[in-house]
Amino acid sequence: MFTLRIDGREIAPRPDETVLDALLRSGVEAPHSCRAGACRACLVRATAGAPPEDAADGVPPPLRERGWFLACLARPASDLTLTYEDDGETSVEAEVRSVELLAPDVARLALRPREEFSYRPGQYVVLRRDDGLSRPYSLASVPGEDDELELHVRRVPGGAFSGFVFEDLVAGDRLALRGPFGSCVYPETAADEPLVLAGTGTGLAPLLGVLREALRRGHGGTIDLYHGGRTADDLYLDERLSRLVDGRDGVRYVPSPLGGPPVRGGPVGRLDEVVFARHADLTGHRVFLCGAPDLVQKMRKQAFLRGAELDAIHADPFLSAPPR
Ligand SMILES: Cc1cc2nc3c(=O)[nH]c(=O)nc-3n(C[C@H](O)[C@H](O)[C@H](O)COP(=O)(O)OP(=O)(O)OC[C@H]3O[C@@H](n4cnc5c(N)ncnc54)[C@H](O)[C@@H]3O)c2cc1C
Ligand code: FES
Repeated sequence: MFTLRIDGREIAPRPDETVLDALLRSGVEAPHSCRAGACRACLVRATAGAPPEDAADGVPPPLRERGWFLACLARPASDLTLTYEDDGETSVEAEVRSVELLAPDVARLALRPREEFSYRPGQYVVLRRDDGLSRPYSLASVPGEDDELELHVRRVPGGAFSGFVFEDLVAGDRLALRGPFGSCVYPETAADEPLVLAGTGTGLAPLLGVLREALRRGHGGTIDLYHGGRTADDLYLDERLSRLVDGRDGVRYVPSPLGGPPVRGGPVGRLDEVVFARHADLTGHRVFLCGAPDLVQKMRKQAFLRGAELDAIHADPFLSAPPR
């Protein structure tokens, strides 16, 4: 049996319990969201003891080297002394510049980090409120073109963080920002590859970042961007995307509502059916899939079966916290 030490307390994890579960059971306000290794909201640092190696999977090497690991994946294999204290290089403070509605249930959040913050379009950051509530959100902005970070937050009924963004957050507020994380990015080697980008809801945010970066770099292959939603009202960037692709050869924006009238003469139906009806063979393609987790996982498998290489499929399922 091993011991977890944090803030002068000693906690004995139960057999098979993760570090996160043990901390939460003991009343520690441990930041977390997905509890499945997908969001990095539960990062914690071991100042003594060795965290299990698999709990550092996907943690950027500079953080891993300083002892940071994912509490939701870690089953302790030794005594650990833990801290959530920042070691000075892990998170930056950002000022809220604006919160604007893009649709009744989608907000555009603009943030300005208070120190240099490097990222690639399509990656995501974990936002942290003063009380520790933390959630990941993807970046639609492009460094060099935008001085602010652009994030799209969908309001989830009863959602703790999205509710806070819609109801409380105003220009001038501060948030802590950790990251960037994730590999949903435009690779420099992709210059002539055909790109297929597909996402539902705010899954559009990282795809917008990738699309803008590809255009900025003068991408030579075709680009097809599919945005799915329940109805036309969910396609919250329709005009901006139409303008962005207007007059560009080989670059298409395909609004794809699930039901109701078509948008701009486009298809109506399930996003996976729409995309694969038009791209039956994805050999040599690079595919980006973001948004609703079930659909992303399903489309990832389908894209592979249709010929896309696994390392040419970039998928960010927006896994949320499990139901309370
Ligand atoms: C890598 C990554 C990137 C992400 N990027 C974005 C982004 O760019 N924009 C964005 O809006 N979100 C994004 N998310 C999701 C986001 O992190 C939050 O999970 C979401 O905003 C809900 O948080 P909340 O605190 O408002 O709701 P919570 O308080 O966490 O949830 C409240 C209740 O609603 C349920 N719930 C939460 N989300 C959903 C949902 N989508 N559908 C059905 N039930 C739900 C929960 O299980 C819970 O019972 C991303 C997630 C990941 C893992
Ligand atoms: S990665 Fe641990 S809570 Fe999401």
